[in-house]
Amino acid sequence: MKSYKIALIPGDGIGTEVLDGGWRVLTAASERFGFRLQSQTFPWSCDYYLQHGRMMPDDGIEQLRAFDAIYLGAVGWPARVPDSVSLHGLLLPIRKAFDLYVNSRPHRLLDGVEGPLRAGGFDILCIRENTEGEYSGAGGRVHMATPNEVAVETSVFTRRGVERILRYGFEMARTRKRRLASVTKSNAQKHSMVFWDEVTDALAAEYPDVEVTRYHVDAIAARFVTHPQTLDVVVATNLFGDILTDIGAAIQGGLGFAASANVNPEGGVPSMFEPVHGSAPDIAGRGIANPLATIWAGALMLEHLGEASAAQAIVRAIEDVTRQRRVRTPDLGGQATTEEVAQAVIAVLKT
Ligand code: NAI
Ligand code: MG
Repeated sequence: MKSYKIALIPGDGIGTEVLDGGWRVLTAASERFGFRLQSQTFPWSCDYYLQHGRMMPDDGIEQLRAFDAIYLGAVGWPARVPDSVSLHGLLLPIRKAFDLYVNSRPHRLLDGVEGPLRAGGFDILCIRENTEGEYSGAGGRVHMATPNEVAVETSVFTRRGVERILRYGFEMARTRKRRLASVTKSNAQKHSMVFWDEVTDALAAEYPDVEVTRYHVDAIAARFVTHPQTLDVVVATNLFGDILTDIGAAIQGGLGFAASANVNPEGGVPSMFEPVHGSAPDIAGRGIANPLATIWAGALMLEHLGEASAAQAIVRAIEDVTRQRRVRTPDLGGQATTEEVAQAVIAVLKT
């Protein structure tokens, strides 16, 4: 029997609640589809920080390296630990250390979910570059706090970085509707974005079966709202992808559904799967958080591990539950608990 070692990092607030529900769904799927999931839970969080002075131990990354994947709830408790500390002490080091250069987010309106748009029936896979670009961190400030102050933030695009994210997009397009949207702003940014366009064109020649459209980010932002059903795979830079995936989350019905995979497709390191939302201190501890985004992220994890049937069954079970419109958490206008929603998904999985 195949067996996978999963590192669980529940984190803070509702992170612990939704990850618990998500893990029970994954366990039920493993029983049904005949593989084993072993887990070890790491208490790294803001609580951990307040006790130990750091978000994870010095050898935290090395401890995680032995796992097949990381399943994470949410990290952050701004009233007690600044977000800059909690983010830079745990999530970012994991993404960096394992070179998780693909951030992949499915945006689909599930049956039974009322999104804000009249257009339903869209299915977008956003692929965001996760390691460089506008978030490279290169830059500086001089003449601080004077009228002559200067702030410079430099985007960094490498051939290796641009090529690998686009190639991943083309490969994904081949598993879907074979349409790829490449997002830049090459009319205004004539160096890095023209470079990105050139790499797109060069790769397009290798994938003649994939239909490529180049969009400027402002135009595709509007298209997400007006014609989302015309989009399939969308590949974007770190900043543009960050913004577009928030539109994606909004049109799919909100944070309760938005799931995220931080992947290194070459393998050999654990990739990380998480909901897009944070720790939601405003509702934490009440057991009413929507676990569907985390459950969906768990399905992305199983797909990454090679358990495609189990992954599809979980997404179908989520959609069965949303279609029935009975078991819903308060963010969707219902009164169900996190636990009840997870149980409803498990019940479908078992039938
Ligand atoms: P948030 O995503 O935690 O919450 C935003 C709003 O959405 C809140 O009203 C919350 O109640 C609601 N919400 C979020 N997820 C929900 C769910 N599953 N079910 C029902 N309602 C839900 O964003 P916020 O408040 O800006 O951040 C809170 C903390 O989380 C901060 O420390 C932030 O840095 C951290 N954060 C962590 C992330 C991560 O671990 N990847 C991602 C985003 C934020
Ligand atoms: Mg964002």
